[in-house]
Amino acid sequence: MRIVLFGPPGAGKGTQAHRLADRMDLALIATGDIFRANVANDTDLGREANSYMDKGELVPDDVVVRMVLDRLDEEDAHHGFILDGFPRTLPQAQALENELAERNRPLSAVLKFSVPDEVAVKRLAGRRTCRRCQRSYNVEFKPPRTDRVCDVCGGELYQRDDDHEDTVRHRLEVYHHDTEPLEFYFWERGLFRQVEAEGTEDEVTDRALEAISDLLEDG
Ligand code: AP5
Repeated sequence: MRIVLFGPPGAGKGTQAHRLADRMDLALIATGDIFRANVANDTDLGREANSYMDKGELVPDDVVVRMVLDRLDEEDAHHGFILDGFPRTLPQAQALENELAERNRPLSAVLKFSVPDEVAVKRLAGRRTCRRCQRSYNVEFKPPRTDRVCDVCGGELYQRDDDHEDTVRHRLEVYHHDTEPLEFYFWERGLFRQVEAEGTEDEVTDRALEAISDLLEDG
């Protein structure tokens, strides 16, 4: 199974990506997480990506596409994957489609998690992220059992630099302008379902699983 998750910042893509990858035993490939790991390790890729991420801009397509296609070559991704945060532009979507067609492994489903912008802003203001496993918490909606410690791996929780309100609002603009139009691209291919992303995490996971099985039945 090869699944793409997209939606605005704060929609809960990362949260659901972890849940679905665990449930369905799929590799989890999250472009934002890969960039942040490179920033933490001060690599060339990390320095380049950070100059865009800091401002809430998209990293250039050629950089992201190369990175994702390399990642898809890794053994775990051969058995199926969840892509969180990729593709985000038409050139990225086309590059992915062409690559998967060459490998005879087309996408199975594209899910858009939808929440109103104001909900996203509120969620991101309270988000805390695990430095080690990148899981998301929230001071209001999902506090960790121990202050600033990840429930799952014990890593330290921190606030992302791009979660400040001005940057979040800019990321939302970029999303509406560059990424939201991909809906039509995937809808035309019969791969698209919208998932209402308000409610509890369990409710959203159930809706996502239902959307995936709908698409598989239709396909
Ligand atoms: P990335 O890390 O992908 O950020 P994003 O897409 O903006 O998404 P977020 O991580 O902010 O939100 P999310 O939807 O994953 O929400 P989460 O589950 O954490 O990208 C960062 C940057 O990297 C980009 O700006 C760009 O610069 C660059 N980049 C990445 N990919 C790129 C690409 N393909 N091309 C170019 N550049 C790229 O949840 C958010 C909060 O809500 C958490 O606190 C969580 O606990 C809470 N929450 C989750 N679900 C619920 C619920 N049901 N109810 C209440 N609260 C909830």
